[in-house]
Amino acid sequence: MKKVFVTRKIFSEALERISSFAELAVWPEDFPVTHKALLAQAVQVDGMLTMLTDPIDAAVIQLGREHSLKVISQVAVGFDNIDINAATLASIPVGNTPGVLTETTADLAWTLMMTAARRVTEGFDEVRRGTWRPYALDTLCGADIYGATLGLVGFGRIGQAMAARACGFNMRVLYTQRSRDLEAEKKYNATYVSLEDLLKESDFISLHAYLSPETRGMIGAQQFAMMKPTAVFVNTARGAMIDSAALVAALQNGKLAAVGLDVFDPEPIPADSPLLKMPQVVITPHIGSASLQTRKRMASMAVENLEAGLAGKPLPHCANPAVYTSRK
Ligand code: GLV
Ligand code: GLV
Repeated sequence: MKKVFVTRKIFSEALERISSFAELAVWPEDFPVTHKALLAQAVQVDGMLTMLTDPIDAAVIQLGREHSLKVISQVAVGFDNIDINAATLASIPVGNTPGVLTETTADLAWTLMMTAARRVTEGFDEVRRGTWRPYALDTLCGADIYGATLGLVGFGRIGQAMAARACGFNMRVLYTQRSRDLEAEKKYNATYVSLEDLLKESDFISLHAYLSPETRGMIGAQQFAMMKPTAVFVNTARGAMIDSAALVAALQNGKLAAVGLDVFDPEPIPADSPLLKMPQVVITPHIGSASLQTRKRMASMAVENLEAGLAGKPLPHCANPAVYTSRK
């Protein structure tokens, strides 16, 4: 029987399904698997079911390739924790879970946007502390979402799901990404602009791109300086796309009004981060795709990728399809 290592406890029905076609080992701890443990598993398993927290670097992949590793199936749409080039060179397909989490993640990005704009957590903090002040016209005034300009950095599935929501809020939608998408532009009445124009003109800015060498650190001091002082910035993609120190400075200097983050670099956010003391900051702990239904669908998709990979069949959702075309 084929052997599989699952790097984190997952839903029991997913584990049961894996057990029907493979011998199963599961990382037992309540913290992410270590690099050392991955190396130890790489010499003995045929497949790995991985999380976005796992350091699947070239060393793990090459060791696996020298033994019998045939597939890496990640339970996430992002796979920046995996050295994808090393996997392709080793002819090891990497699975991911696009599509199923699109709406759920856009819902959370929208939630952060509205929460930050309308100062919901500041208000709730007052209520919870017992300092609900008598009604006054100037209490906790925030920004309107309806009719404002939304700037989407990345216009893939999740970016477009944001644009769809923006239609209902009568927003003007700007987007930027490597190349124009004329069809999606028309569908959502969105305008393609440069990053610079997007930062200058948007009331709300939301990131929806993959983390890559190109997008790493793409929002830094220079970019925050271009934003409107009233802008609300949201990141549900990957923390490393922004320069955290520059974000802190920008908030301290009033370069933008508020921030909603679901991701951070590193995660969990250090307890001494100045962001945690700033009233205009809302942070959730990487729960973008966390509805029960979506997380179960992601697990199920990852199990399908895993099973296909173990059987030597093409993965239904492969992050490095070059493994198939480059093979003679
Ligand atoms: C979550 O961040 C994912 O990539 O699925
Ligand atoms: C993820 O699903 C994306 O492409 O935005």
